[in-house]
Amino acid sequence: MQNNLRVVTLDGPAGVGKTTLAKRVAQELSIAYLDTGAMFRIFGWKFGEAAPTMSEQELEAHIAQYAFSLSGIGFKSVLSVNGTPVGDEIRTEEVAALASSVAKLPVVRDALKRVQREISTQTSLVAEGRDMGSVVFPTARYKFFLDATAEERGSRRFNQLQEMGKPADLDLIITQIKERDMQDRTRSIAPLIAAKDANIIDTTELDIEGVFTAIMDFFE
Ligand code: DC
Repeated sequence: MQNNLRVVTLDGPAGVGKTTLAKRVAQELSIAYLDTGAMFRIFGWKFGEAAPTMSEQELEAHIAQYAFSLSGIGFKSVLSVNGTPVGDEIRTEEVAALASSVAKLPVVRDALKRVQREISTQTSLVAEGRDMGSVVFPTARYKFFLDATAEERGSRRFNQLQEMGKPADLDLIITQIKERDMQDRTRSIAPLIAAKDANIIDTTELDIEGVFTAIMDFFE
């Protein structure tokens, strides 16, 4: 394996298994894992519901108060904000909704794009998100776009919730996934779309092991 700095991009819709795969691929390649969704979640959480009504200057002033850094490799990768590791406080439905609303703001996307690129000049990484291969790292050598039907992603989520003993309604979950897909794929700025040169992997019929093998086959 070459030791020069490089970027592997891993994009796809919600619930397709990106996080599990991205961490595993990073571990296998001994490089860092960057969760870019966490960056949008941090801004959603910190800026709150008022973000979409803020002027560009206000947003820029808020953004300037946060410095991201990435350390460690694979499963042990740690994303920090102002020196503090990002924790589970951003893993709530409420923060997901706030993240989705700041993710539509060009000022926020531009700022995070700069930060993500800057991080990639310091370490090799697997960048997980929605627009890694298409917008942020267009020249990355290895690009993957994972996909699966909404029904399959819904049933995976349903099973996860059942395993955790949480109440779940399969039809409702699938409807919500379809709504989120529509929003992500049709938004005017950085819509969810596979880069032209991305390797598209349909995971509908594959388990995690199968997808992992399919991805690793691309690396010599
Ligand atoms: O993957 P996630 O659920 O943590 O992402 C949180 C939100 O951020 C979600 O609405 C999608 C958005 N996002 C984005 O627009 N671009 C990225 N590169 C990563 C996430």
